[in-house]
Amino acid sequence: MSSSNINTARERLVALYGEVSKHSAYQTIPDFVSRELGYQETIQSNWRGDRNRLDYILKKLSPAAGQRWGDFGANTGFFTYTLAHGFPQTHFTAIEANDKHATFQREIKAIFEVGNVDMLNKAVSFDDLPALPEFDVLLHLNVLHHAGADFDRQYVSGEADFPAYAVNYLRQLRATNRAMVFQIGSNLWGDKTHPLVASTDDDNKIVYVSKLITDAGWKIRHLAYAKAGSDEIVYQDIAPTLIDALNTPGVRPDAKAIADALAPFNLTQHVGEFYRRGLYILERA
Ligand SMILES: C[S@@+](CC[C@H](N)C(=O)[O-])C[C@H]1O[C@@H](n2cnc3c(N)ncnc32)[C@H](O)[C@@H]1O
Repeated sequence: MSSSNINTARERLVALYGEVSKHSAYQTIPDFVSRELGYQETIQSNWRGDRNRLDYILKKLSPAAGQRWGDFGANTGFFTYTLAHGFPQTHFTAIEANDKHATFQREIKAIFEVGNVDMLNKAVSFDDLPALPEFDVLLHLNVLHHAGADFDRQYVSGEADFPAYAVNYLRQLRATNRAMVFQIGSNLWGDKTHPLVASTDDDNKIVYVSKLITDAGWKIRHLAYAKAGSDEIVYQDIAPTLIDALNTPGVRPDAKAIADALAPFNLTQHVGEFYRRGLYILERA
C-alpha cells in the first residue's frame, strides 16, 4: 500500500472509530491492521480486554477450514477480523447493529481485501434469530443484557421479564448453532440502576447466568474468569467440578463449592464489573 493510501485509510478509520455512540471506544484495533497502518486505539485494559478473551477462546476452539463462525454484536471487528485474518479458510459473519461500527468493519474488509467475512448490519431481534445462518461457533459477547434497550423493547420492559426472555433467546440460538462463546453483563440495559444480580455478588451471578444457559438446553463446556497476573489480566478455567455441578439440572451448587472455585480469581480486585463476568464456552447438550 502506498504511504498516501495508508494515510487516507488511517484517517477514515480514526474518524469512524471516534464517532461517539453507546458502544464506541470498546475494542482494540486488530493487530494486522495496526501493524500495516500504524494505528491503534487506547483501551483501558485494566477495565476491559479483548485480546485476553480471544487468547482464551483460541485455547479452547480453533476455527477449522470450511467452518462458519458468527460474531453477534461484532462492534468494530476485533474478534471477526483478527480471526478472519488468522484463519483464512474459515468463513466469518459479523452481525452489528451500529452503522458506524459496521462501516468501520467494511473499511477494514475493503482496505485489506478480506474475502472470508460478510456483514449483517442490523439490530437483530429475537424474532430474527431463526433466519440467521447456522454457525459452527457463534460469539455472543456482552450483548444479551442490552435487550429491552438496544433491541427487543417489546419483550423486556424490566428485570422481571429478563430470565424467561433470555432462556427463550438462548434456546433459539441453540437450535441453529453448534457451539457458542457467551458473556453477559449483570445489569439490564447496561444500566447500574437495574441490576439483574448485584454486580459484586459473584457467587449468585455465576448461578444466575449458568441457570439461564442450562435451562435453555446448552451444556457448559468451559468457563473462565479473569485473573490479574504480574503485568496482565488473563482468563483461566474455573474448577471443572463446579462446571459439572452447574450443568446438573435442578441442583444449585453449594455455597462453599462456588466460593472455593471463585476464590483463586480474587474478583474483588478488578476495578470494574467487566472482569467479573464469566466467559462461557457452550455446546449443545
Ligand atoms: C457491549 S458491545 C460488545 C462488543 C463485543 N461483542 C465484545 O464483547 O467485545 C455490544 C455490541 O453489540 C451491538 N449490538 C447490540 N445489540 C445488537 C443486536 N440486536 N444486533 C446486532 N448488534 C447488536 C452494539 O452495537 C455493540 O457494538
